[in-house]
Amino acid sequence: MSFVPYLLSVHSPMNDQPPAIYGIIGNPLTHTLSPLMHNAAFKALKVNAIYKPFPLEEEELNLFIEDLKEADNPIFGLNVTIPYKEKILPMMDGANAFAEKVGAVNTIVINRQRKLFGYNTDGPGFLAHIKEVGFSPEGKRIAILGAGGTTRAILSALALFDERPESIKIYNRTYSKAKELLEDLSCRLDMSLVEVVPTIDDLNIELADCLINTTSVGLKPTDECLVDPEMLHKSLFVYDVIYNPQETALIKCAKEKGAQTANGLGMLFYQGTLSLQHWANTQLDDKIKDVMRRALEQGAKVQ
Ligand SMILES: NC(=O)c1ccc[n+]([C@@H]2O[C@H](COP(=O)([O-])OP(=O)(O)OC[C@H]3O[C@@H](n4cnc5c(N)ncnc54)[C@H](OP(=O)(O)O)[C@@H]3O)[C@@H](O)[C@H]2O)c1
Repeated sequence: MSFVPYLLSVHSPMNDQPPAIYGIIGNPLTHTLSPLMHNAAFKALKVNAIYKPFPLEEEELNLFIEDLKEADNPIFGLNVTIPYKEKILPMMDGANAFAEKVGAVNTIVINRQRKLFGYNTDGPGFLAHIKEVGFSPEGKRIAILGAGGTTRAILSALALFDERPESIKIYNRTYSKAKELLEDLSCRLDMSLVEVVPTIDDLNIELADCLINTTSVGLKPTDECLVDPEMLHKSLFVYDVIYNPQETALIKCAKEKGAQTANGLGMLFYQGTLSLQHWANTQLDDKIKDVMRRALEQGAKVQ
């Protein structure tokens, strides 16, 4: 199916039309920084568009998506977050090859014919960020905590990336969910490097090069470190996809052990720039990317 994404550039501030609407659907959305990042970009691009959060209950999702197909709906692009990234894929009129492989969509482009096209920019966002911080997965032993939507995107991106790790071990609270995830991804991607460890209590990172937390543990400032801090060591690169708070207990303990660390703010930034490029159907200028990054960094400081 061929799609012509709606061009952001047609949303000229000179016309007297109401603004085009972009946004994010999910639940909860209380802590999202995406509106700050995208509204800053729209302002810098001088387009007549706004980006809004649309918190949706599960039973509202179908109707919301059906409404998007109506000719007079002013929404032209969406991000999708927890817990709808996987559910939304079959509701698309089409999806790009990577989103199909991941089995999840975090970006929707709505074209002039009101057709919905899904992308996944989480995986490429993660790869772009680890590249920025100088971590190459090539030949590395990687341990991942969690087996939800984010692990799905990260595993898919790593599977298609030239720099292949030596091994990836998944540790999840619910073993069956991690097994199901791996079985599902294995239908479409080479997951031969990936192993699911039956219990998170068997976590062994003594010989690991990289530990990635994709669980939601750490979101609350009172959350304790999911890993025994004694296991952390200075040869480890510790990546926490959580960016709010900026320093989770895991990141704090890892820093104390002298490990290299990164939080998920960079991943959020890169996935956001890639989403906007899909909506605009063009590459973004570095100046616009800087505006987005600054908006995110300021937002993260305030929260
Ligand atoms: N930086 C970014 O750009 C970015 C992008 C996407 C997501 N995120 C963040 O990533 C986190 C996860 O998102 P997701 O979409 O992957 O969520 P998800 O699909 O709901 O998965 C959540 C994972 O956390 C585990 N978990 C939850 N509570 C736990 C606990 N008390 N102890 C141990 N494990 C627990 C779950 O284990 P079970 O299977 O046992 O339930 C599951 O593996 C969120 O904090 C989200 O904000 C960041």
